[in-house]
Amino acid sequence: MSKITIAIDGPAGSGKSTIAKMVAERLDFTYLDTGAMYRAITFLALEKGIVDDEDAVNKLVDGLEVTLKYSNGFTSVFANERDVSEYIRSPKVNSKVSEIAAMSFVRKELVRMQQNMGKVGDIVAEGRDTTTVVFPDADLKVFLDASVDVRADRRYKEYKEKKIIIDYNDVKENIKKRDKIDSSRKTSPLIKAENAIYVDSSELSVEEEFEILFENIKKKINFIKSQNNQ
Ligand code: DC
Repeated sequence: MSKITIAIDGPAGSGKSTIAKMVAERLDFTYLDTGAMYRAITFLALEKGIVDDEDAVNKLVDGLEVTLKYSNGFTSVFANERDVSEYIRSPKVNSKVSEIAAMSFVRKELVRMQQNMGKVGDIVAEGRDTTTVVFPDADLKVFLDASVDVRADRRYKEYKEKKIIIDYNDVKENIKKRDKIDSSRKTSPLIKAENAIYVDSSELSVEEEFEILFENIKKKINFIKSQNNQ
């Protein structure tokens, strides 16, 4: 059977990662967390103090190889083999990652790396432009959504679980700011692909959201299998 690509898109806090991991685990597909790659570049740029200097960021990215390794529910991210996983989810990275992700050379290079990873086998790719730019021919496209309040609540809970002290209003403002930057940027803005399945999880539990989606995915995979057998 030919390999299958599932791409999942949506705004910050829409549950993309949770759902994408669940789908990948249930199907035994490789999970591709593209946001982790933008986060890795952001962390390195912050570390070097060049985050506001696009030319310097371009130089940093040129020749850099970002790779992902997923196991036991956790994505490890490597920048030229340096493991940067533990640094990429800090509030500091959160507040700068949209700006880095709006840089066109950064996007061009990371999209190239993501497409290469997608050539290897069955994958569930998750991230802003996975349905439109990285894998426009994905077998199945999903756009997850939720209200700003619900998304801010989820992020705030995640911080609390990680014992990161942060003000709820700052979390909400950051989500709104990221929505604005991600939707209005020139290169690969956040948009729902025309043929994507749309799920609004504002009123759904994670399990309910997953079951709705997984039904659709199963149908599509069965359809692909039947086509291949013809
Ligand atoms: O999904 P996330 O929160 O880890 O994404 C981090 C940032 O990177 C977010 O601002 C959106 C951006 N991003 C992107 O522009 N393209 C992707 N394919 C994945 C993430």
